[in-house]
Amino acid sequence: MRERRAWWKESVVYQIYPRSFRDSNGDGIGDLNGITERLDYLKELGVDVIWLSPVYQSPGDDNGYDISNYREIQQEFGTMEDFEHLLSEVHRRGMKLIMDLVVNHTSDEHPWFQESRKSRSNPYRDFYIWKEPVNGGPPNNWASRFRGSAWEYDQATGMYYLHIYSPKQPDLNWENPRVRRAVYDMMEWWGKKGIDGFRMDVISMLSKDPSYPDGEIKDGNPYGDGQPYYTNGPRIHEFLKEMNREVLSKFDWMTVGEGVGVGPKEALAYAGYDSHELNMMFHFEHVELNPGPYGKWNTNRVDLRELKAVLSQWQTQLEGRAWNSLFWENHDYPRAVSRFGDDSPAWREMSAKMLAVCLYMMKGTPYIYQGQELGMTNMHSQNLEDFRDIETFRVYQEMTGRGLVSHEEMMAYINHTGRDNARTPMQWSSARQAGFTEGTPWIGVNANYREINAEDEKMCSNSVLAFYKRLLKLRRSKDVILYGSYRLLLPDSPSLFVYERELDGERALIACNFTSMEQAFALPSGWEANRERLIGNYEGEEKNGILRPYEAIVWRC
Ligand code: GLC
Ligand code: CA
Repeated sequence: MRERRAWWKESVVYQIYPRSFRDSNGDGIGDLNGITERLDYLKELGVDVIWLSPVYQSPGDDNGYDISNYREIQQEFGTMEDFEHLLSEVHRRGMKLIMDLVVNHTSDEHPWFQESRKSRSNPYRDFYIWKEPVNGGPPNNWASRFRGSAWEYDQATGMYYLHIYSPKQPDLNWENPRVRRAVYDMMEWWGKKGIDGFRMDVISMLSKDPSYPDGEIKDGNPYGDGQPYYTNGPRIHEFLKEMNREVLSKFDWMTVGEGVGVGPKEALAYAGYDSHELNMMFHFEHVELNPGPYGKWNTNRVDLRELKAVLSQWQTQLEGRAWNSLFWENHDYPRAVSRFGDDSPAWREMSAKMLAVCLYMMKGTPYIYQGQELGMTNMHSQNLEDFRDIETFRVYQEMTGRGLVSHEEMMAYINHTGRDNARTPMQWSSARQAGFTEGTPWIGVNANYREINAEDEKMCSNSVLAFYKRLLKLRRSKDVILYGSYRLLLPDSPSLFVYERELDGERALIACNFTSMEQAFALPSGWEANRERLIGNYEGEEKNGILRPYEAIVWRC
């Protein structure tokens, strides 16, 4: 076997967005004790590692991705004792827990920034990125990723600070060794509490091009695209190698970096087996296919041939050199069944199962986002008041405000790709508010919770949930699935996603129909005889020469 075994390669990760997972005290906001209540559910599902989206102290401008104290728990989520209790209950069940590390920026309410903005000579001034005005305006034309300029003018000292996200998320200055030291100390502090690693928020953005050049202006946008100058910057690998040396290497951790602007070549630099930086990266190429004139704001469907090409490239280019992370969903993207499958009652379950087979039989560490294992869907609402996400509001305001799109068009885009689609409460049962809270949830429960919820799916042997359990068990039991090489078949088929895995003479064949129609499918040579079916989403016999709507099958030989 070519790959070296590692616990984080054989683990299944489950992402929890704490606000929306389970509210234990009726205030409408999910919390740490709510998570602790539901650990047995995760254990039964087959989860090894929980990734917790931020639970640190935060004013909540971006739901916790704006941290004002890295060593405190956000009050609405509970206390440090609740956290320690959660961690020990996770460990008691043989699972692990990784935290979200958000260190590209802090909240503007973090004491470092409060100090920094006081005066040009404050000892914390250089913790952030301050620049003089240019021609009475911002230092360059970069757009914030949440719209508007990436620079905010600060009256007190007459200078601008950089915020790639909202003005309440000022970027830290990683050029400053004191910033890096403070971050490493904080990471080590959590390490001593016994956590098992970090998911690293927008880690590819830490190093900026020191000349801060203007970005390209596309399609009449008011601002330029700074991304080429703030992703994969000149010192990023120096910083991460240092972080590895100073902190990561001291723990048996799992680390996964959020790779905005990262392709396979860059991923090898961040997570290659000999790079001494991170274990693996998230990339977004497969969830950002087919953008429209307004980028991710569109209602486009994805062309399966492009999806196959992207995912296959990641499989083959990292083969034997780095490890993949496999995800369809997270708190920033819509629900996979609505986007890549079919969320109508007729095909929702079948297509949700098919998507699971398609991705999780590949090589890499599977990540499941809360509710994905139930086949939860997008929220489908025409009222802006039903949404909560800062990005959604800012984009709505800018695009309708400039007259680019009508209210109706914008709502269609938001329903297709907006972040709140993934942030509606976890659907635990058919009880009031889907069993998420006894009170009023901070964001509305999806209207379909009576049809889609964990309690009912637990009782039903062919639910999406039951299928996920079987699939994860299968994955764990087969080295060819964990470590085998990958080969795409039928690259030109617009409807079938078919690939082979191979390890030391053992082979697996995975065939998925991405359409709601029967598709002819001839078994590739070598598979006609002596094959054993490992799993499939249809009951009973397979149909010769045909894959039924959204059918997915795994064979071995
Ligand atoms: C990451 C997070 C996202 C957040 C952003 C800024 O992309 O996943 O939710 O808004 O970073 O921290
Ligand atoms: Ca609560």
